[in-house]
Amino acid sequence: TPRVVGTRAELAEALAAVRAGGDRVALVPTMGALHVGHASLMTHAREQVGEDGAVVASIFVNPLQFAPGEDLDRYPRTLDADLEVCAEHGVDLVFVPPVEEVYPEGVSAGSAADAVTVDPGPLGAVLEGAARPTHFRGVLTVVVKLFGLVRPDVAVFGQKDYQQLVLVRRMAAGLCLGVDVVGAPTVREDDGLALSSRNRYLDDVQRRTALVLSKALSVGAASAARGAEAVVAAAHDVLREEGEGVDVDYLVLTDPDLGDAPVAGEARLLVAARVGTTRLLDNVPLLLGAP
Ligand code: PAJ
Repeated sequence: TPRVVGTRAELAEALAAVRAGGDRVALVPTMGALHVGHASLMTHAREQVGEDGAVVASIFVNPLQFAPGEDLDRYPRTLDADLEVCAEHGVDLVFVPPVEEVYPEGVSAGSAADAVTVDPGPLGAVLEGAARPTHFRGVLTVVVKLFGLVRPDVAVFGQKDYQQLVLVRRMAAGLCLGVDVVGAPTVREDDGLALSSRNRYLDDVQRRTALVLSKALSVGAASAARGAEAVVAAAHDVLREEGEGVDVDYLVLTDPDLGDAPVAGEARLLVAARVGTTRLLDNVPLLLGAP
């Protein structure tokens, strides 16, 4: 069973032993409510550092990445079950800090008045950032704090939150953090729905409705050989014909860096939508042929 620590001091003390042995450290940051998708990140982390290395998971619902009126207060908190998931997936150390330990400056939803924060740059203002303008500042700020506290050699993030992965990678490179950021593939239910902690907000009808998102992406990806326009058209058709009850925010085909370069070869198809009041995200990789 993993050791569970809540303070910076305990964390530093637990990591000192690992470092003294010269072993590598992998970090898996999470907000808890752990599911099989999170568990897969722990397995990827172990592969990165080997049996002698240390896998650290953090569980922290980060107020700064929620805007006022979002689901910070009702975000699922399932610590006992989460610790079991960590134990079952070979995590060595779990960091579960109280809010003051991460934000001694003080914080509330979306604002940390006196804190130094990370500006995500223009990529933080598009796609998810257009709907949630303060979100990625909050994500990058907590991630850089976790990197500073854990000093991992490698950190594992899910491709499920693709824009987050790209932004964390850019931050690590751009701010010279020396952390290798690894992206792990999205884990799905048998019917295609991408696992998400927020899926538990969906009732049975909404759960079925939400399936149209992964369906649109897979139908779009199946047209990849016919080029970019065919992909977007095919995905749009699914959303239009079967998307009743789905309020689509965006369906976008981009290059893998989310740049605005013309899309050819490797690409990413991303969708965001609301089902009821729940915001859902999904994306797939694809390889475009010439039209
Ligand atoms: P959370 O939503 O708990 O997700 C933690 C990690 O699990 C993220 O890297 C996310 O992409 C990954 N993940 C979620 N669902 C997945 C799935 N179905 N398959 C594979 N990976 C999946 O993302 C966050 O927390 C926060 O923003 C955080 C990075 C912890 C900063 O607060």
